[in-house]
Amino acid sequence: MPKDRIFILAVESSCDDTSAAVFENENKLSNVTATQKVHEAYGGVVPELASRAHQQHIVPVIHEALRQANVKMSQLDAVAFTKGPGLMGSLLVGNAFMKSLALSLDIPLIGVNHMQGHILAHFIKDEVQQKAPSFPFLGITISGGHTQIVKVNSHFDMQIIGETLDDAIGEAFDKCGKMFGLNYPAGPEIDQLAKSGNPLKYQFAKPQVKGLDFSFSGLKTSVLYFLQKKLKEDSDFIKHNLQDLCASFQHTAVQILLDKIKKASQLTGIKTIAIGGGVSANSGIREALQSQSKQHNWEVFTPSFEYCTDNAAMIAIVAYFKYRENQFSDLSITAKARLKLTDN
Ligand code: KG4
Ligand code: ZN
Repeated sequence: MPKDRIFILAVESSCDDTSAAVFENENKLSNVTATQKVHEAYGGVVPELASRAHQQHIVPVIHEALRQANVKMSQLDAVAFTKGPGLMGSLLVGNAFMKSLALSLDIPLIGVNHMQGHILAHFIKDEVQQKAPSFPFLGITISGGHTQIVKVNSHFDMQIIGETLDDAIGEAFDKCGKMFGLNYPAGPEIDQLAKSGNPLKYQFAKPQVKGLDFSFSGLKTSVLYFLQKKLKEDSDFIKHNLQDLCASFQHTAVQILLDKIKKASQLTGIKTIAIGGGVSANSGIREALQSQSKQHNWEVFTPSFEYCTDNAAMIAIVAYFKYRENQFSDLSITAKARLKLTDN
């Protein structure tokens, strides 16, 4: 008889955060993340430093996740890890560690697609997050590496209907933030500074891309040329106008995103919109979606902040759905730096 209480330990190590989570079915018992500060000085993630930091963090992070969940290794029914996409060296740490753990505990191993994690994070249950979107819904994945509109028909039936042709939206936040003199990742700081700025002070280019695809490199170039011109007139231009610059940039990025979400909803007739990925923490995007929801009769789902940026809870929820369908990985599974959303 299948067990009705399944305990899963999951690890996420695709980029620069080492995270471990323990779940009982779809319920989060713990979700512990160690953020790597070492990259700040370089203005971006340094892959070799990231994999070394994962090696240092993985054991204490797993111990802490088990401790907070009050679950022993011997109670685990399966272990899961992010198989891709991401940085190869970082992925390999989670991959090798969890393979060894599965082997030594003699329990199933489950490799999880990171992108599916961002979309299915809405199904995580905890004290706050109780209601999940119903199918079909539009999953909007907005992160440092991706910008996708996905038609989600079921847990494992997903179809990309729009995506970026160049930079991801998070990349635009980070690169423009760098031009404004902010540290990496600049998204959260732009969000904060934008709150006291005027979103309509400066106009930046909005690219005209056909269909549901996006482009964010034009916005970045437009900010760059604008700053070059203004800095010639006043070398302290950024310092004097930082809030307005952040607010105007964020406003444009949100408008680009919103236009495509509206279009996707019109074309598919789907009114359930679920955002995910690091940039879904952005307050400008959350407010814009909430105000549009009334006008368009949308039901908008925004995950709790801890499930927006990379985290192991989103890997654990996908692993739980895979466990229920006996979708296990064998020990020959390899890390994949590139992985399509539809690769299970
Ligand atoms: O999902 P994530 O943690 O990692 C990837 O898979 O890429 O996303 C990280 C991205 C970074 O670009 C970061 O600047 C952005 O999410 N981000 C934000 C905010 N919080 C994180 N961007 C805008 N506003 C925020 N509040
Ligand atoms: Zn991510």
